[in-house]
Amino acid sequence: MDYNVLAPDRDRIASDIGELASTFVEGAQPGWTRRVFSDAYIASRAWTLSKMREAGLETRIDPAGNVVGILPGRNRSAKPLMTGSHTDTVHGGGRFDGIVGVVGAIETVRRLKETGTRLERDLVIVDFLGEEANPFGVSCVGSRSIAGLLDVEHLDRTDEDGVRLADAMVRAGLDPHEALSQAWKPGSLHGYVELHVEQGPVLEKSGAAIGVVTAIAGIERLLATFTGRADHAGTMPMDMRHDALAAAAASVVVVEREGCGAPVHGVSTVGRIESGPGSFNVVPDNARFWAEMRSTEADWLTGAKRRVAESIGIEASNRGVDLVVEWLNDQAPVRAHEKIQDTIARAADDLSFDWEAIPSGAGHDAAHLAHLGPMGMIFVPSISGRSHCPEEKSDFAQIAQGVHVLTTTLLHMDRTPAVRPSA
Ligand code: GLV
Ligand code: MN
Ligand code: MN
Repeated sequence: MDYNVLAPDRDRIASDIGELASTFVEGAQPGWTRRVFSDAYIASRAWTLSKMREAGLETRIDPAGNVVGILPGRNRSAKPLMTGSHTDTVHGGGRFDGIVGVVGAIETVRRLKETGTRLERDLVIVDFLGEEANPFGVSCVGSRSIAGLLDVEHLDRTDEDGVRLADAMVRAGLDPHEALSQAWKPGSLHGYVELHVEQGPVLEKSGAAIGVVTAIAGIERLLATFTGRADHAGTMPMDMRHDALAAAAASVVVVEREGCGAPVHGVSTVGRIESGPGSFNVVPDNARFWAEMRSTEADWLTGAKRRVAESIGIEASNRGVDLVVEWLNDQAPVRAHEKIQDTIARAADDLSFDWEAIPSGAGHDAAHLAHLGPMGMIFVPSISGRSHCPEEKSDFAQIAQGVHVLTTTLLHMDRTPAVRPSA
Protein backbone atom coordinates (compact mmCIF):
# COMPACT_ATOMS: atom_id res chain seq x y z
CA MET A 1 0.00 0.00 0.00
CA ASP A 2 1.13 3.58 -0.68
CA TYR A 3 1.08 5.07 2.81
CA ASN A 4 1.63 8.56 1.41
CA VAL A 5 -2.06 8.81 0.53
CA LEU A 6 -2.83 8.80 4.25
CA ALA A 7 -0.92 12.05 4.83
CA PRO A 8 -2.93 14.16 7.29
CA ASP A 9 -4.29 17.64 6.68
CA ARG A 10 -1.84 19.92 8.50
CA ASP A 11 -4.16 22.94 8.45
CA ARG A 12 -7.00 20.95 9.99
CA ILE A 13 -4.69 19.81 12.81
CA ALA A 14 -3.48 23.39 13.39
CA SER A 15 -7.03 24.68 13.39
CA ASP A 16 -8.20 22.08 15.96
CA ILE A 17 -5.26 22.79 18.26
CA GLY A 18 -5.86 26.55 17.94
CA GLU A 19 -9.61 26.25 18.56
CA LEU A 20 -9.17 24.15 21.70
CA ALA A 21 -6.49 26.50 23.07
CA SER A 22 -8.38 29.71 22.40
CA THR A 23 -11.89 28.58 23.40
CA PHE A 24 -11.32 26.47 26.50
CA VAL A 25 -8.81 28.17 28.71
CA GLU A 26 -8.89 29.32 32.34
CA GLY A 27 -8.91 33.04 31.61
CA ALA A 28 -7.51 34.23 34.94
CA GLN A 29 -4.53 31.86 34.79
CA PRO A 30 -1.23 32.17 32.90
CA GLY A 31 -0.51 30.43 29.59
CA TRP A 32 -3.03 27.98 28.18
CA THR A 33 -4.20 26.59 31.49
CA ARG A 34 -6.93 23.93 31.35
CA ARG A 35 -6.67 21.94 34.58
CA VAL A 36 -8.71 18.84 35.33
CA PHE A 37 -12.13 19.69 36.88
CA SER A 38 -11.83 23.39 35.97
CA ASP A 39 -14.88 24.88 34.21
CA ALA A 40 -12.82 25.30 31.04
CA TYR A 41 -11.80 21.64 31.09
CA ILE A 42 -15.32 20.36 31.76
CA ALA A 43 -16.68 22.54 28.92
CA SER A 44 -13.94 21.30 26.58
CA ARG A 45 -15.04 17.67 26.94
CA ALA A 46 -18.12 18.43 24.79
CA TRP A 47 -15.81 19.91 22.13
CA THR A 48 -13.69 16.74 22.00
CA LEU A 49 -16.84 14.63 21.89
CA SER A 50 -18.25 16.67 18.98
CA LYS A 51 -14.95 16.45 17.04
CA MET A 52 -15.02 12.67 17.44
CA ARG A 53 -18.65 12.57 16.35
CA GLU A 54 -17.99 14.75 13.29
CA ALA A 55 -15.19 12.34 12.37
CA GLY A 56 -17.85 9.59 12.32
CA LEU A 57 -16.96 7.77 15.54
CA GLU A 58 -19.36 6.06 17.94
CA THR A 59 -18.88 8.20 21.05
CA ARG A 60 -19.43 8.18 24.79
CA ILE A 61 -18.06 9.66 27.98
CA ASP A 62 -17.26 6.83 30.37
CA PRO A 63 -17.80 6.92 34.18
CA ALA A 64 -14.25 8.19 34.75
CA GLY A 65 -14.81 11.08 32.34
CA ASN A 66 -12.77 9.68 29.47
CA VAL A 67 -14.07 10.85 26.09
CA VAL A 68 -14.14 7.71 23.97
CA GLY A 69 -14.69 7.30 20.23
CA ILE A 70 -14.83 4.00 18.36
CA LEU A 71 -14.18 3.44 14.69
CA PRO A 72 -15.77 0.04 14.02
CA GLY A 73 -13.57 -2.46 12.20
CA ARG A 74 -14.61 -5.29 9.89
CA ASN A 75 -14.23 -7.87 12.63
CA ARG A 76 -15.88 -6.49 15.72
CA SER A 77 -14.95 -9.46 17.85
CA ALA A 78 -11.21 -9.00 17.21
CA LYS A 79 -9.19 -7.34 19.98
CA PRO A 80 -9.24 -3.59 19.36
CA LEU A 81 -6.46 -1.10 18.82
CA MET A 82 -6.34 1.98 21.02
CA THR A 83 -4.74 5.40 20.71
CA GLY A 84 -5.23 8.71 22.50
CA SER A 85 -3.76 11.09 25.04
CA HIS A 86 -5.05 13.96 27.21
CA THR A 87 -6.27 17.55 26.87
CA ASP A 88 -5.79 18.80 30.44
CA THR A 89 -2.75 20.98 31.08
CA VAL A 90 -0.56 21.95 34.01
CA HIS A 91 -1.05 25.40 35.55
CA GLY A 92 0.54 27.81 33.08
CA GLY A 93 0.89 25.01 30.52
CA GLY A 94 0.98 24.99 26.74
CA ARG A 95 -1.12 24.05 23.72
CA PHE A 96 0.56 20.82 22.62
CA ASP A 97 1.25 18.46 25.55
CA GLY A 98 -1.32 15.67 25.22
CA ILE A 99 -3.47 17.66 22.81
CA VAL A 100 -1.39 16.59 19.80
CA GLY A 101 -2.17 12.94 20.59
CA VAL A 102 -5.93 13.52 20.82
CA VAL A 103 -6.25 15.82 17.79
CA GLY A 104 -3.82 13.56 15.89
CA ALA A 105 -5.92 10.47 16.65
CA ILE A 106 -9.07 12.20 15.36
CA GLU A 107 -7.21 13.30 12.21
CA THR A 108 -6.08 9.69 11.70
CA VAL A 109 -9.72 8.58 11.68
CA ARG A 110 -10.67 11.32 9.20
CA ARG A 111 -7.92 10.24 6.82
CA LEU A 112 -8.81 6.56 7.12
CA LYS A 113 -12.41 7.44 6.26
CA GLU A 114 -11.55 9.89 3.49
CA THR A 115 -9.29 7.33 1.79
CA GLY A 116 -11.80 4.49 2.28
CA THR A 117 -9.20 2.58 4.33
CA ARG A 118 -11.05 0.06 6.49
CA LEU A 119 -9.41 -1.50 9.54
CA GLU A 120 -9.98 -5.10 10.48
CA ARG A 121 -10.17 -4.24 14.18
CA ASP A 122 -12.06 -1.56 16.06
CA LEU A 123 -9.94 1.52 16.68
CA VAL A 124 -10.70 3.11 20.07
CA ILE A 125 -9.68 6.73 20.56
CA VAL A 126 -9.56 8.12 24.08
CA ASP A 127 -9.08 11.61 25.51
CA PHE A 128 -8.14 10.38 29.00
CA LEU A 129 -9.36 12.38 32.00
CA GLY A 130 -6.81 14.29 34.06
CA GLU A 131 -3.39 13.04 33.01
CA GLU A 132 -1.42 15.82 34.70
CA ALA A 133 -0.46 15.94 38.36
CA ASN A 134 -3.34 17.49 40.34
CA PRO A 135 -3.94 18.66 43.93
CA PHE A 136 -5.22 15.17 44.83
CA GLY A 137 -1.82 13.68 43.98
CA VAL A 138 -3.35 11.24 41.47
CA SER A 139 -2.23 11.75 37.89
CA CYS A 140 -3.65 9.81 34.91
CA VAL A 141 -7.07 9.36 36.56
CA GLY A 142 -8.82 8.25 33.36
CA SER A 143 -6.16 5.89 32.05
CA ARG A 144 -5.75 4.33 35.51
CA SER A 145 -9.50 3.65 35.52
CA ILE A 146 -9.49 1.92 32.13
CA ALA A 147 -6.35 -0.03 33.04
CA GLY A 148 -7.79 -1.16 36.41
CA LEU A 149 -5.18 0.82 38.36
CA LEU A 150 -7.49 3.32 40.06
CA ASP A 151 -8.41 2.26 43.60
CA VAL A 152 -10.48 3.41 46.57
CA GLU A 153 -7.41 4.91 48.24
CA HIS A 154 -6.92 7.22 45.22
CA LEU A 155 -10.56 8.34 45.37
CA ASP A 156 -10.22 9.16 49.09
CA ARG A 157 -7.28 11.49 48.60
CA THR A 158 -8.08 15.13 49.30
CA ASP A 159 -6.99 18.48 47.90
CA GLU A 160 -5.93 21.37 50.13
CA ASP A 161 -9.57 22.29 50.84
CA GLY A 162 -10.26 18.75 52.05
CA VAL A 163 -12.30 17.85 48.94
CA ARG A 164 -11.98 14.15 48.04
CA LEU A 165 -11.11 13.15 44.49
CA ALA A 166 -14.33 11.11 44.46
CA ASP A 167 -16.35 14.24 45.35
CA ALA A 168 -14.61 16.32 42.66
CA MET A 169 -15.55 13.61 40.16
CA VAL A 170 -19.19 13.62 41.29
CA ARG A 171 -19.30 17.42 40.97
CA ALA A 172 -18.06 17.04 37.40
CA GLY A 173 -20.96 14.67 36.68
CA LEU A 174 -18.84 11.50 36.83
CA ASP A 175 -19.36 8.24 38.66
CA PRO A 176 -16.31 7.35 40.81
CA HIS A 177 -17.84 4.05 41.93
CA GLU A 178 -18.26 2.93 38.31
CA ALA A 179 -14.82 4.32 37.49
CA LEU A 180 -13.42 1.66 39.83
CA SER A 181 -15.22 -1.17 38.12
CA GLN A 182 -15.08 -0.38 34.42
CA ALA A 183 -11.53 -1.67 33.91
CA TRP A 184 -10.70 -3.50 30.71
CA LYS A 185 -9.17 -6.95 31.15
CA PRO A 186 -5.37 -7.32 30.95
CA GLY A 187 -4.60 -8.59 27.45
CA SER A 188 -7.83 -7.18 26.01
CA LEU A 189 -6.05 -4.70 23.71
CA HIS A 190 -4.32 -5.76 20.48
CA GLY A 191 -2.09 -2.75 21.07
CA TYR A 192 -1.91 0.83 22.30
CA VAL A 193 0.11 3.57 20.61
CA GLU A 194 0.22 7.23 21.66
CA LEU A 195 1.48 10.26 19.77
CA HIS A 196 2.98 13.00 21.96
CA VAL A 197 5.34 15.96 21.79
CA GLU A 198 8.79 15.08 23.13
CA GLN A 199 8.79 17.88 25.74
CA GLY A 200 12.60 17.90 25.73
CA PRO A 201 15.45 18.94 23.39
CA VAL A 202 16.76 15.60 22.08
CA LEU A 203 14.99 15.28 18.71
CA GLU A 204 15.49 18.93 17.78
CA LYS A 205 19.21 18.54 18.49
CA SER A 206 19.61 15.35 16.47
CA GLY A 207 17.38 16.54 13.63
CA ALA A 208 15.23 13.37 13.70
CA ALA A 209 11.57 13.95 12.83
CA ILE A 210 10.27 11.04 14.89
CA GLY A 211 11.13 9.61 18.29
CA VAL A 212 10.47 5.93 18.86
CA VAL A 213 9.98 5.73 22.62
CA THR A 214 11.89 2.95 24.35
CA ALA A 215 10.58 3.40 27.92
CA ILE A 216 8.53 5.75 30.09
CA ALA A 217 10.18 6.96 33.27
CA GLY A 218 8.82 5.89 36.63
CA ILE A 219 7.83 8.65 39.06
CA GLU A 220 8.06 8.80 42.87
CA ARG A 221 6.28 11.85 44.34
CA LEU A 222 6.41 12.96 47.94
CA LEU A 223 5.00 15.60 50.24
CA ALA A 224 7.45 16.45 53.05
CA THR A 225 6.03 18.33 56.06
CA PHE A 226 8.46 19.93 58.53
CA THR A 227 7.25 21.09 61.95
CA GLY A 228 9.55 23.23 64.11
CA ARG A 229 8.96 26.02 66.62
CA ALA A 230 8.13 29.69 66.10
CA ASP A 231 10.41 32.07 68.02
CA HIS A 232 11.57 35.67 67.96
CA ALA A 233 14.03 35.99 65.06
CA GLY A 234 16.04 38.62 66.87
CA THR A 235 16.43 36.99 70.23
CA MET A 236 16.52 33.22 69.78
CA PRO A 237 20.19 32.14 69.37
CA MET A 238 20.98 30.23 66.17
CA ASP A 239 21.89 27.03 68.01
CA MET A 240 18.61 26.96 69.94
CA ARG A 241 16.22 27.21 67.00
CA HIS A 242 13.93 24.63 65.42
CA ASP A 243 13.68 26.31 62.01
CA ALA A 244 11.30 24.31 59.79
CA LEU A 245 12.08 26.34 56.67
CA ALA A 246 15.85 25.94 57.06
CA ALA A 247 15.35 22.17 57.33
CA ALA A 248 13.13 22.20 54.23
CA ALA A 249 15.56 24.39 52.26
CA ALA A 250 18.50 22.09 53.03
CA SER A 251 16.28 19.20 51.94
CA VAL A 252 15.51 20.90 48.61
CA VAL A 253 19.23 20.75 47.88
CA VAL A 254 19.30 17.06 48.93
CA VAL A 255 16.60 16.36 46.32
CA GLU A 256 18.42 18.35 43.63
CA ARG A 257 21.73 16.56 44.30
CA GLU A 258 20.10 13.14 43.96
CA GLY A 259 19.28 13.77 40.28
CA CYS A 260 22.55 15.59 39.57
CA GLY A 261 24.52 12.59 40.77
CA ALA A 262 22.49 9.93 38.97
CA PRO A 263 24.75 7.50 37.08
CA VAL A 264 21.80 6.50 34.87
CA HIS A 265 18.85 8.52 33.53
CA GLY A 266 17.44 10.18 36.65
CA VAL A 267 16.02 13.58 37.55
CA SER A 268 14.70 15.08 40.77
CA THR A 269 12.75 18.27 41.42
CA VAL A 270 11.10 20.18 44.24
CA GLY A 271 8.25 21.85 42.37
CA ARG A 272 6.65 23.76 45.21
CA ILE A 273 7.48 24.92 48.75
CA GLU A 274 5.47 26.74 51.41
CA SER A 275 6.29 27.92 54.90
CA GLY A 276 4.81 29.90 57.77
CA PRO A 277 4.03 31.94 59.69
CA GLY A 278 5.75 34.05 57.02
CA SER A 279 7.27 37.06 58.67
CA PHE A 280 10.77 38.64 58.60
CA ASN A 281 11.02 38.44 62.34
CA VAL A 282 9.63 35.00 63.19
CA VAL A 283 11.57 31.74 62.97
CA PRO A 284 9.37 29.56 60.69
CA ASP A 285 7.59 26.79 62.57
CA ASN A 286 6.24 24.99 59.51
CA ALA A 287 7.25 24.20 55.97
CA ARG A 288 6.30 21.67 53.36
CA PHE A 289 7.37 20.83 49.87
CA TRP A 290 6.22 18.70 46.99
CA ALA A 291 8.97 16.82 45.18
CA GLU A 292 9.43 14.09 42.63
CA MET A 293 12.13 11.82 41.28
CA ARG A 294 12.00 10.13 37.91
CA SER A 295 13.97 7.49 36.09
CA THR A 296 13.59 4.82 33.45
CA GLU A 297 15.70 2.63 35.79
CA ALA A 298 13.67 1.03 38.59
CA ASP A 299 16.73 0.26 40.73
CA TRP A 300 17.95 3.86 40.75
CA LEU A 301 14.43 5.09 41.58
CA THR A 302 14.10 2.70 44.51
CA GLY A 303 17.54 3.73 45.80
CA ALA A 304 16.81 7.43 45.31
CA LYS A 305 13.60 7.11 47.32
CA ARG A 306 15.48 5.54 50.22
CA ARG A 307 18.46 7.94 50.07
CA VAL A 308 16.30 11.07 49.89
CA ALA A 309 14.09 9.96 52.78
CA GLU A 310 17.17 9.23 54.92
CA SER A 311 18.99 12.47 54.08
CA ILE A 312 16.07 14.82 54.59
CA GLY A 313 15.38 13.01 57.88
CA ILE A 314 18.92 13.95 58.96
CA GLU A 315 18.46 17.61 57.88
CA ALA A 316 15.29 17.78 59.99
CA SER A 317 16.67 16.06 63.09
CA ASN A 318 19.87 18.19 62.99
CA ARG A 319 17.56 21.14 63.60
CA GLY A 320 15.21 19.46 66.07
CA VAL A 321 12.43 19.62 63.49
CA ASP A 322 9.78 16.91 63.05
CA LEU A 323 9.36 15.47 59.58
CA VAL A 324 6.51 13.53 57.98
CA VAL A 325 7.00 12.17 54.46
CA GLU A 326 3.97 11.04 52.47
CA TRP A 327 4.65 9.12 49.26
CA LEU A 328 1.95 10.18 46.81
CA ASN A 329 2.71 8.41 43.57
CA ASP A 330 4.66 5.30 42.75
CA GLN A 331 4.54 4.82 39.03
CA ALA A 332 7.14 2.23 38.04
CA PRO A 333 9.15 2.69 34.82
CA VAL A 334 7.52 0.93 31.85
CA ARG A 335 9.28 -0.37 28.74
CA ALA A 336 7.63 0.13 25.37
CA HIS A 337 6.98 -3.21 23.67
CA GLU A 338 9.83 -4.05 21.28
CA LYS A 339 7.47 -5.18 18.52
CA ILE A 340 5.57 -1.88 18.71
CA GLN A 341 8.87 0.04 18.68
CA ASP A 342 9.81 -1.91 15.53
CA THR A 343 6.43 -1.20 13.97
CA ILE A 344 6.72 2.55 14.60
CA ALA A 345 10.26 2.56 13.15
CA ARG A 346 9.00 0.66 10.10
CA ALA A 347 6.18 3.18 9.64
CA ALA A 348 8.69 6.06 9.79
CA ASP A 349 10.86 4.21 7.23
CA ASP A 350 7.82 3.69 4.96
CA LEU A 351 7.37 7.46 4.93
CA SER A 352 11.12 8.24 4.70
CA PHE A 353 11.15 10.16 7.99
CA ASP A 354 14.31 10.04 10.10
CA TRP A 355 13.69 8.48 13.50
CA GLU A 356 15.59 7.96 16.69
CA ALA A 357 15.05 5.70 19.72
CA ILE A 358 14.46 7.85 22.80
CA PRO A 359 13.38 7.32 26.43
CA SER A 360 10.56 9.44 27.85
CA GLY A 361 11.33 11.43 30.98
CA ALA A 362 7.69 12.58 31.06
CA GLY A 363 4.89 10.42 32.38
CA HIS A 364 2.11 9.36 30.03
CA ASP A 365 -1.26 7.59 29.95
CA ALA A 366 0.54 4.98 27.84
CA ALA A 367 2.38 3.74 30.95
CA HIS A 368 -0.96 2.56 32.37
CA LEU A 369 -2.33 1.22 29.10
CA ALA A 370 0.69 -1.11 28.95
CA HIS A 371 -1.26 -3.22 31.49
CA LEU A 372 -3.84 -4.04 28.82
CA GLY A 373 -1.61 -4.94 25.88
CA PRO A 374 1.57 -4.12 23.96
CA MET A 375 2.30 -0.38 24.17
CA GLY A 376 4.35 2.08 22.16
CA MET A 377 4.75 5.83 21.79
CA ILE A 378 5.66 8.20 18.96
CA PHE A 379 7.35 11.53 19.74
CA VAL A 380 7.61 14.65 17.59
CA PRO A 381 10.16 17.40 18.33
CA SER A 382 9.50 20.24 20.76
CA ILE A 383 10.90 23.62 19.80
CA SER A 384 13.82 24.46 22.13
CA GLY A 385 12.71 21.46 24.22
CA ARG A 386 10.20 23.68 26.05
CA SER A 387 7.15 22.15 27.74
CA HIS A 388 4.89 22.65 30.79
CA CYS A 389 5.16 26.38 30.08
CA PRO A 390 3.22 28.79 27.84
CA GLU A 391 6.08 28.79 25.29
CA GLU A 392 5.62 25.06 24.60
CA LYS A 393 5.53 24.67 20.83
CA SER A 394 5.99 22.15 18.03
CA ASP A 395 6.09 22.76 14.31
CA PHE A 396 2.79 21.86 12.59
CA ALA A 397 4.60 20.21 9.67
CA GLN A 398 6.41 17.95 12.16
CA ILE A 399 3.18 17.27 14.08
CA ALA A 400 1.62 16.22 10.76
CA GLN A 401 4.55 13.83 10.20
CA GLY A 402 3.89 12.35 13.62
CA VAL A 403 0.19 11.90 12.80
CA HIS A 404 1.17 10.24 9.52
CA VAL A 405 3.42 7.80 11.40
CA LEU A 406 0.59 7.16 13.90
CA THR A 407 -1.84 6.28 11.09
CA THR A 408 0.68 4.06 9.34
CA THR A 409 1.66 2.34 12.61
CA LEU A 410 -1.99 1.58 13.39
CA LEU A 411 -2.45 0.09 9.93
CA HIS A 412 0.58 -2.15 10.42
CA MET A 413 -0.60 -3.17 13.90
CA ASP A 414 -4.08 -3.92 12.55
CA ARG A 415 -2.60 -6.45 10.16
CA THR A 416 -0.11 -8.02 12.58
CA PRO A 417 -0.98 -11.10 14.62
CA ALA A 418 -1.14 -10.62 18.38
CA VAL A 419 2.20 -10.20 20.13
CA ARG A 420 2.89 -11.40 23.65
CA PRO A 421 3.02 -8.72 26.35
CA SER A 422 6.56 -7.66 27.36
CA ALA A 423 7.96 -9.36 30.45
C1 GLV B 1 3.15 14.73 32.79
O1 GLV B 1 3.17 15.60 31.95
C2 GLV B 1 4.32 14.55 33.59
O2 GLV B 1 5.29 13.98 33.07
O3 GLV B 1 4.33 15.03 34.72
MN1 MN C 1 1.32 14.80 28.32
MN1 MN D 1 2.29 17.22 30.86
